[in-house]
Amino acid sequence: MNATGGQLTPVVRLRHASIGYGDLAVVRDLDFDLMPGEVVAVLGANGSGKSTLVRGILGLAQLQGGTLELFGIQANRFHDRARIGYVPQRHTAGSALPSTVREVVSSGRLPRLGWFHRLGATDRAAVERAVETVGLSDRMKTPVGELSGGQQRRVLIARALASEPDVLVMDEPTAGVDVSHQRSLAATLRRLADHRVTMLVVSHEIGPLVPMVTRAVVLQEGRKRYDGPLLSSMVGASDAVLEGAEHAHHPDEDHEDDVTPGWVADPRLGG
Ligand SMILES: Nc1ncnc2c1ncn2[C@@H]1O[C@H](COP(=O)(O)OP(=O)(O)OP(=O)(O)O)[C@@H](O)[C@H]1O
Ligand SMILES: [Mg+2]
Repeated sequence: MNATGGQLTPVVRLRHASIGYGDLAVVRDLDFDLMPGEVVAVLGANGSGKSTLVRGILGLAQLQGGTLELFGIQANRFHDRARIGYVPQRHTAGSALPSTVREVVSSGRLPRLGWFHRLGATDRAAVERAVETVGLSDRMKTPVGELSGGQQRRVLIARALASEPDVLVMDEPTAGVDVSHQRSLAATLRRLADHRVTMLVVSHEIGPLVPMVTRAVVLQEGRKRYDGPLLSSMVGASDAVLEGAEHAHHPDEDHEDDVTPGWVADPRLGG
């Protein structure tokens, strides 16, 4: 139930949305609703506009036309940032700054902090839970620059989790994360999904997430080409390695090219 009295308010609502950079419209004329509790996979070829879409939702790419509402509020009047957790693509957490894992993940609490911007016991507990979730509790004091790329991705996921958001927007959250940690992250995300945390996830390695994906949206050259149930044909070759990983995995072979086909259609997908 909610303010509109009975009808659910979409977490994200786009109408005729064009999103881009400067004069360049990348996403065009997009209608899209993300409803509470949904886990929506955004699929499409490289350059099809997936990241631009999620960056537009986050206010990091320009809404050039149409409308965007977040939790029923027009985006330019929405200020409740803590409700949205974001894992950006490509960026690792590392930098020249000697920030520790604890510091970076704690920054995820900032939107929730009060006037004095000090972390209280509740904040610290949320940070510790988030770090535990991604399996880095023993690295709390490690400068993120000293972590591997995959570990840094996990730090960014923990940072997004730390704000205890109502919606998680993740752009290739598991890229570069090894298979065993992809599986434990997928288990974590599934637990969150069970608790009705809404998710929008861009991923080329959707295999471990398949059981919880409720809907797929496929972009092609910035336009929506499909919006409906995830089909087994959408689960790409790189996912085969995950499904066959129990047998095929070697520590040095976490890349997409090292695929051993073996994906078995999930009966829930009707494939
Ligand atoms: N900051 C930017 N300024 C200008 N153009 C950009 C910018 N970021 C992306 N683009 C362009 O927008 C188009 C879509 O890029 P986008 O990153 O949204 O694709 P994507 O679907 O996320 O691709 P990938 O699967 O490689 O991550 C590309 O042609 C890209 O060159
Ligand atoms: Mg992208």
